[in-house]
Amino acid sequence: MNAADVVIIKALLESNGHYVSGNTLARALGISRVGVCARLEKLRESGFLIEAVRHRGYRLKAEPLELSASLVQAYLESWGQSMPIYHHEIIDSTNAEAERVLTQGNDTPFSVISQQQTSGRGRLGRVWHSPQEGNLYLSLAFKPQSHPTEMQSITLWMGLSVCEAIASEFDLDIRLKWPNDLLYNEKKLAGMLTEAKIEADRMNTLIFGLGLNVNSDCSIWPEDLSKKATSLSRALGKEISLNKLAAKLIAACKTGYDAYLSQITDDHLLEMWNRYDCLKGREVTADYRGDRISGVVEGLEHDGSLMIKTSAGEKIILRSGEVTLTGLQREAKLTAT
Ligand code: BTN
Repeated sequence: MNAADVVIIKALLESNGHYVSGNTLARALGISRVGVCARLEKLRESGFLIEAVRHRGYRLKAEPLELSASLVQAYLESWGQSMPIYHHEIIDSTNAEAERVLTQGNDTPFSVISQQQTSGRGRLGRVWHSPQEGNLYLSLAFKPQSHPTEMQSITLWMGLSVCEAIASEFDLDIRLKWPNDLLYNEKKLAGMLTEAKIEADRMNTLIFGLGLNVNSDCSIWPEDLSKKATSLSRALGKEISLNKLAAKLIAACKTGYDAYLSQITDDHLLEMWNRYDCLKGREVTADYRGDRISGVVEGLEHDGSLMIKTSAGEKIILRSGEVTLTGLQREAKLTAT
């Protein structure tokens, strides 16, 4: 990420399509107009379409399709937010990279973004296939210092915030499938993976990873995958700009984490869950203490655990793991993609 680029892009974004003069940019950066021209040229080379008109200035006509940490940061700053962003064109796993950055002693929160992973991690030891298909792989790192039992509720806060951000940005009926799948039309749109380092009953670090199918062309997926997963571009019938979306998601994760920290009442968590949940009243199966149980989802506990009433009438509290929809929804059995 280049600090001067962030200043230039932010000025262009905030001008709402009007021209920004070279003098304004030079003053903001504390460099000469020739220096500004050189930076603008570099931005053009990296995919920004910047129009220059004599005596008027510069205007952003199109953003790069590829991820740009400077553009993501500029979006965040234009919304009054900011966070260190580590961008990699290709990486083994953004969660693994976040762990490495943490071991260097960096402050949190920070984020790691990529468009391709070679060893993407899914939940329960699965692989998260992460080819370069215009999708988003994103991790945020925090140091919560809270009890490990809080992990479920932190994950839910962030998952619900992400769900809300995508639903409102694109006006789509996105649902959260406990604990951390996002569904559209009963198909998996995104998966989330929270990993924590625990010492002496404290979560020293927590990494929240999100894999979102954005621009994948689902028509070339194998049939079984196409039946159970989807992408935003399939839902909307158009290609989505990755950079603004990445910024929205980073901001949403931060909002969810702050909501958890400030302990906005647990009722608010339940209210959000009720708004976006897709499980309540539905039949599911799940692994519970070594057995496969089946029952109907009754709701959410205040700590984020799932309440299931089994067919035998027993009430089960599921603190971790995942559930599979059954009955009519068998076709939509959802696992990591
Ligand atoms: C799941 O199994 O549903 C969770 C998948 C989480 C995948 C994301 S992609 C970004 C981050 N980095 C990883 O290696 N995994 C998570």
